[in-house]
Amino acid sequence: MRKSLIKSILSAESPSQDVTVCGWIRTRRDGKGVTFLELNDGSCLTNLQCVVDAGTPAAEGLGESSTGSAVRVSGELVPSPGKGQRWEVRAREIFVFGGADPETYPLQKKRHSDEFLRTIAHLRPRTNKYSAAFRIRSRAATAIHSYFQSEGFYQVHCPVLTGSDCEGAGEMFRVTTLPPGEKDLSKDFFNRSCQLTVSGQLEAEALAMGLGRVYSFGTTFRAENSNTPRHAAEFIMVEPEMAFADLDDLQDLAEGLVHSVVGDLLKTCEEDISLFDRFVEKGLVDRLRVIAEEPFARITYREAVSILEKSGRDFVYPASYGVDLQTEHERFLAEEYFGKTTIVTDYPREIKAFYMRANDDGETVAAMDVLVPRIGELIGGSQREERLDVLEHRIIELGQQLSEYDWYLDLRRFGTNPHCGFGLGFERLIMMLTGIGNIRDVIPFPRTPGNLAF
Ligand code: 4AD
Ligand code: MG
Repeated sequence: MRKSLIKSILSAESPSQDVTVCGWIRTRRDGKGVTFLELNDGSCLTNLQCVVDAGTPAAEGLGESSTGSAVRVSGELVPSPGKGQRWEVRAREIFVFGGADPETYPLQKKRHSDEFLRTIAHLRPRTNKYSAAFRIRSRAATAIHSYFQSEGFYQVHCPVLTGSDCEGAGEMFRVTTLPPGEKDLSKDFFNRSCQLTVSGQLEAEALAMGLGRVYSFGTTFRAENSNTPRHAAEFIMVEPEMAFADLDDLQDLAEGLVHSVVGDLLKTCEEDISLFDRFVEKGLVDRLRVIAEEPFARITYREAVSILEKSGRDFVYPASYGVDLQTEHERFLAEEYFGKTTIVTDYPREIKAFYMRANDDGETVAAMDVLVPRIGELIGGSQREERLDVLEHRIIELGQQLSEYDWYLDLRRFGTNPHCGFGLGFERLIMMLTGIGNIRDVIPFPRTPGNLAF
């Protein structure tokens, strides 16, 4: 089918005798002897206005078709006399691929609530807000790949089916082919238990030990029953892992990545981001500029707790040394105290995962969390424990079997070295880029507790 994308038509340099576009009718206005169509094909936010004169073959082709119908319009591209648009199409011929009954098509109104649109997740990509969010998602992925590739990282693919619980959190989905009631795991597909991965980190570490710098960009799963606006059961994690690098290098990497991605999006997705600035979060663009340009604040967990204790704030959960930071604490630090992205490092070992490198103080580990205004934790990572004896000791201390980690310990037996990595929650990044407050609205088909409708 010979046709142009509306995005390229709208940036045309000169008029054209003959253009063809395909898209969905967003609105139809019937005037005296003329009909105006606003056409959108998803290639960009702006609609293309098509003018249809009554009594022409185009008007006949269009018939009564209205909002939601899929059409092909051919005609002449001319400068638009109307306000707000440079070009319009004077239709010569219209073909309707598929109509949409105005009695039953749910997207008739200009604005619908997020809650309602979640119940029609299969139709919401046809709205301005969701198509813009999903275009931003696409571009953000591209920007992440570009950054890592330019820094010498290789993309790797880590398994989704796994036998190990990376975070030690025990909040995993089980995968089985056993019939209901059958409990003997030796009869299961893998002759053992199998779960959906919570993180590709351990495998990424193995790959980094051969390729030096790697990143995985994959789906991860958490069966935590936390019904918050920031948690999904299925989400995407971006996980770089670097050999021969320490926690300072890791903080630089996180800062470089976030600066580069947000800076890229401000340029490449200006139109879509401005929609969110107008309708979702006033001041979004200014806030993103700060994130893209300002150096990150860097403090230790101990300093963070001391700031929180002295803040005079009445937190729901008071901050105290030894207790993990809550979202309210993270937001206070990034949003109010520093007013910019903040990295907190060196958390107490008890509240962090077994693989994080023990600091010399015997109390803390070389961990880091990157906190951003409005979201809280965007990135979590650490330097990894590269000393075999220290790692073995920690695994035993946590009551785990060394045999379960045999291959992971091999990485310390053969050519071990200081290395580190982090996980960035891709959906939280999209929330940050759009100002959207609920993770359910940045994932096309979100999975949250009790919700698997699509
Ligand atoms: O801090 P987390 O749990 O870190 C890890 O899993 C490490 N193994 C990553 C690594 O070092 N390679 O998760 C990393 C990030 C969080 O900072 C958060 O942005 C996101 O993943 N995240 C979630 N996003 C949406 N829904 C959830 N349930 C999430 N859990 C974590
Ligand atoms: Mg974390």
